[in-house]
Order: sequence, then structure tokens, then C-alpha cells
Amino acid sequence: MSNKRILSGMRPTGKLHLGHYVGALENWIKLQNEYDSFHLIADYHVLTTGLKTDDIYNNSIEMVIDWLAAGLDPQKSPFFRQSQIKEHTELFLIFSMLVTKARLERNPTLKEQVRDLNIENIIYGHLGYPVLQSADILLYKGNFVPVGEDQVPHVEITREIARKFNTAFSEVFPEPEALLTKFARLPGLDGNAKMSKSLNNAILLSDEPETVQKKLRKAVTDPLKVRRNDPGRPEVCLVFTYHKKFNNKNLDEIESGCRSGELGCADCKAMCTGYINEFLAPIIEKRKYYENNLNDVTEILDAGEKRARIVAQSTMDDVRNSMKIG
Ligand code: TRP
Repeated sequence: MSNKRILSGMRPTGKLHLGHYVGALENWIKLQNEYDSFHLIADYHVLTTGLKTDDIYNNSIEMVIDWLAAGLDPQKSPFFRQSQIKEHTELFLIFSMLVTKARLERNPTLKEQVRDLNIENIIYGHLGYPVLQSADILLYKGNFVPVGEDQVPHVEITREIARKFNTAFSEVFPEPEALLTKFARLPGLDGNAKMSKSLNNAILLSDEPETVQKKLRKAVTDPLKVRRNDPGRPEVCLVFTYHKKFNNKNLDEIESGCRSGELGCADCKAMCTGYINEFLAPIIEKRKYYENNLNDVTEILDAGEKRARIVAQSTMDDVRNSMKIG
């Protein structure tokens, strides 16, 4: 095990879906055996796009249950909420002095969000989203941050802030690197490039077999393959992408059957449903255990927050000493 640190984080949006698994969780689960890892629940970041706070706590709990069910081990790596460790806000304030408004306005991830959500006037805290994220990462002196493409600009800002701090005061922080998730995004059931709960095109990690079956039946396939014997193009079909991920038995057969037209979409989907349900079965079973033992979940969070707080406090001591503010 390397002594380098990983800081991974997600905003608590409630129950997770297969896209979260493929794009992040699967990687985190592997990395927890190779590095000292910290798993952050970015509950303050939720406020950047809305003030509806009623669901934040429950969404955090649902997300933690999925983390546990999928195989993240809280004994190995602490799980913690940003809001429960006040050092995040302290470091955020100091870091906000180390980056210009122009630099934050150039952030492509922000520009995309402003466009997608039709935001007319950006909130000050939303502009500062990557500054809070920098505090999340550097409070734990993270060396690597496993993220998807869209978060790379935030890791870049984190590196700049670390550099700025180290030159203005003294060497306290590492310059973290993004660890890009290998598997491309999982497409949504409607053919959208991204699986997302808000687009209503997702298979949840908690979906029961019948739900997966119903959802897949309605999934979009190659529009040129209308009837069973029509030849299909697996490379444009999202169901084939799911096969690539979850079917390790007869992928070649599916591909040639689709191309020749011998395999119809209904049969192909039924097989895909089977593979996905096989994958989900142990997750659903573990999930049920935690749903019935919510005390275990809150204890896991409590213990994780205690562990994380010790590291965060020690970093803030380094920061204050380095800045000579006692
Ligand atoms: N911005 C990340 C996302 O939306 C969530 C996040 C917050 C994060 N703080 C982090 C990710 C620190 C990695 C490290 O996915």
C-alpha cells in the first residue's frame, strides 16, 4: 500500500445509479486497497445550486448506504460530511484570498452549469465552488483525486491554490493530481450520453429485478434496427454498452447476432437485464441490511467524522503556523 493519499468526494444526491458506479465508485473501491483514502460527502456544495436543504441529510444517508452496499469499506477509509468538520470552511476562507474572480469565471465546469441550469446571476459561493473543493482536497493533503472529465478543471484550480499558498507562506500542501476514471460514461436509457437521475434515464443500484426489466424494455436501441431480422449496429446501441460492462459471458455472440440481425432487441435486452440483475443482487442484499440497521450507518459516519477531523485539525495547525497567525 502506497502512503499517498486519495481524496474522493460526491455531492449527496440520494440513491446512486449505475453511472455513479461505473464512473466513480468502482474505481474508489479498487483504490481503497492501494492508497490511504478519504471519502467526502460534499453536503455544503449542494447549496451552490439551491437552498432546498430538507433532503440533504437523507440524501447523504442514502448515498452512504449505496457506498457500503457497493463495497467501500469504512474501516479502511473514513466517510464524512463536509458540514460536520468546520476546518473545511476555515480553509475555504483562506483559499478564497489566493484566487482571482477572473480565474474562477474561466472555469469551464461552471460555464456548463450556468448554461444547463439557465442561471442568470451567479451566486458568490457558486463561483467559489472549486475553492471549497480545493479545501476539501488539501485539508487531507490529498495526492490523487479520482474524478471524471468534468472535474479536472477543479483539480487544476486546486493545484494552483496549493502552489500559491506554498510560495506565499511555506510548503504545506502537495499538488494533487486527477486520476481519470477509465471507463467512459455510461449512457442513459434514453440514449443520452450521460446517465442521470434528473434526466430520469438511470438504473439505480437499488432497483429490484422487475424494475430493471421494465426500464430496459423501454431503452432506446439502434433506430435503424426496427424488426428482428434487421441488422443492427452495436456501436450506436446503449444496450450494447451495458453488455460491454456487465456481460462477461457471451459478448461476442451478442455483437455478431445484432450485426447479422439474428438476435432481436427484445432478446438482447432480456439477456442484458439478467446480467445487470446478477451484478445488482449482492448490492441490493447488503442495502437491505443497512436500511434495517440505520444505526450502523450513523455510527459509521460518526466514526469517520472523528477520524477525518483529527487530520483536518492537524492540517489547520500547519496552515496557521505557516501563516504565522498562531
Ligand atoms: N465536485 C465534485 C462533483 O460534483 C464533488 C466534490 C466536492 C469533490 N468536493 C470534492 C470531488 C473533493 C473530489 C474531491 O463530483
